[in-house]
Amino acid sequence: MEEIIARGAESIILKTERWNRIFVLKWRQSKPYLFRDIDSQLRKTRTSRECKMLSVARALGVSTPAVYAVDLDDYTILMDYIEGSQFKQIANSLPKNQLKKFCSEFGTSIALLHQGDVVHGDPTTSNVIIDSKSKLWLVDFGLSEMNATVEMKGVDLHLIHRALETTHWDLQECMLEATIKGYSDTIGEEAKDALARMEEIRERGRYH
Ligand SMILES: Nc1ncnc2c1ncn2[C@@H]1O[C@H](COP(=O)(O)OP(=O)(O)OP(=O)(O)O)[C@@H](O)[C@H]1O
Ligand SMILES: [Mg+2]
Repeated sequence: MEEIIARGAESIILKTERWNRIFVLKWRQSKPYLFRDIDSQLRKTRTSRECKMLSVARALGVSTPAVYAVDLDDYTILMDYIEGSQFKQIANSLPKNQLKKFCSEFGTSIALLHQGDVVHGDPTTSNVIIDSKSKLWLVDFGLSEMNATVEMKGVDLHLIHRALETTHWDLQECMLEATIKGYSDTIGEEAKDALARMEEIRERGRYH
């Protein structure tokens, strides 16, 4: 049994059965517009990075799918299947207080990464899964990095801001506020630097 559950920008996500259990196989496809060597190098790097960062993130207290196998020649990762919905898909239908709670937890997850000097790299609401027990999971760590600077954390926050205004324009203020509150409450005083950098990056963007 194999079933495609998502086609991301760079990969196919398959639900698959192994050893009498359901898993997800993330398979990075080739991009026809890239030179073959560059394409293969990029898929390899992102696959191994994702594999490593999924467990680095978990060690920092963020829920991520566990990895069972990785194949750098096939560009695949076999990981836990998280049964739930993309935060992006359900945000609109949630009661306001529930929406705020999830945003705050999203902010907390990003804060836990940043406290460990890790950035997610693509922190959008489609990379957040909410399961049936209302637990939040982060996925898609192919662009994640360690040893993150304040600038990199600022960019991560800026990407959240931008994702909220493009995908949730009618809820963006409420969502951003709750996300930043979750972030600041977790990090405390030191959150100021990354948040100030987020504003700075936004201003830079305005005049370019
Ligand atoms: N382990 C998992 N369990 C359940 N669903 C998953 C899992 N991993 C990914 N998905 C689903 O598949 C979607 C695409 O996965 P992912 O974001 O990792 O791929 P991607 O190609 O990098 O996507 P994009 O480039 O569109 O961000 C996710 O948004 C999520 O809905
Ligand atoms: Mg994604």
